[in-house]
Amino acid sequence: MPVYRPPKIAASEITPRQVYLGRREFLGAAAIGAVGLLGAGNAGAAALSAVESKYKVDEKPTPVKDVTTYNNFYEFGLDKGDPVALSGDFKPLPWTIKVDGMVNKPGTFDLDALMKEFPIESRTYRMRCVEAWSMVIPWDGFPLASLLSKVEPLGSAKYVAFETVVRPEEMPGQKGIFQSLEWPYVEGLRLDEANHPLTLLAVGLYGETLPNQNGAPIRLVVPWKYGFKGIKSIVRITLTDKEPKNTWQITNPQEYGFYANVNPAVDHPRWSQATERRIGESGFFGASRRPTLPFNGYADEVASLYAGMDLKANF
Ligand code: MTE
Repeated sequence: MPVYRPPKIAASEITPRQVYLGRREFLGAAAIGAVGLLGAGNAGAAALSAVESKYKVDEKPTPVKDVTTYNNFYEFGLDKGDPVALSGDFKPLPWTIKVDGMVNKPGTFDLDALMKEFPIESRTYRMRCVEAWSMVIPWDGFPLASLLSKVEPLGSAKYVAFETVVRPEEMPGQKGIFQSLEWPYVEGLRLDEANHPLTLLAVGLYGETLPNQNGAPIRLVVPWKYGFKGIKSIVRITLTDKEPKNTWQITNPQEYGFYANVNPAVDHPRWSQATERRIGESGFFGASRRPTLPFNGYADEVASLYAGMDLKANF
C-alpha cells in the first residue's frame, strides 16, 4: 500500500491559468514528471494541449488541491482522503475502452489514439455532489457523442451503460476488509443524454492528465446531474435498449435513482438539496451556503430533454 506523500509543490493557490502554466515552465519538465502539479496521485502527469470551449461557467474554479484531495472513489476507500492516499499503485496507462452492444461498429479503442483523433477541449463546469457540496472544475476532454458516433449506435439503442475497471491488486477498496460496493462500479445514461454536447469524457483537469484519484485515465462528466453519475476509470461502454442500473441505485434504491438530475425541489431522503456548500470557499463565519440551481444551472441547455416527465418520480 503506497504511503501518501504530499505534493512537493503547494498547488492549492493556483487560479489563473497563465500563472499556473508559468510556474510549470519555471519548474521544468523533470519536476512535473516526478510529481505533477496536481498532486502525489498523479505521478504520470502530462500536460494536455486543449482548445478553449464555449462551455465555461463564469465562477471561480475550485482550488486544484481541493479538487484532487477531496474525492469519492470507493475503489480506493470510503473516506474523502483515501483516493489520493491509496491510488499510487494504480496504472492508468496503457488504456483501452471497449464499446459494444447495439452498434454497427463495435470496437476496442486505444485511449492515446482517441485523444489524437478528437480535439481535447478545456471546459469549466459547475459540479454538484449529492452530498450537498459543489465545486467548479476546469475539465479537459472530448464529448462522449464523438466516441458514440464512431461506433454507429443502432436505431434500437436507447441507453448507454458504463463500467469501471476491476483491479483489486491496484485498487485496495476492491478487496478485503474495505469491500463496500459491488464491482465493477456501473453507471448509465439515456442515449439522448449521452449525446448531449455538455456530456464529456474527461481525460484531464487544470490542463494536465487526470490524477488517479479523479478517475484516470478517462471518466464521465455530466454537469447537470449529481456527481455520482461521473463514473471513473471507464473500460467499457455498452449500447442497450434497457435502462441500465447504476451502482448507487443497486446499493440503495430508495435514495438514488437513474436520472439523478440536480433538483433543489427534490430532497434526498436524509437531507435537503435546496442549498450547497462550495468546497474551497471560506469566509469569516465559514463557507456560506448557496442556493442549488435546477439542473445545476444548465436548465436552458437540458430541461427540454425531460419535457413532460415527472421529475419527482424520476429522481
Ligand atoms: N466512479 C467510480 N468508479 N467509483 C466511485 O466510487 N464515486 C462517484 C463518482 N464516480 C465513484 C465514481 C461519486 S459519489 C462522485 S461525487 C464523483 O465520482 C466524485 O468525483 P471527483 O472525486 O472527481 O470529485
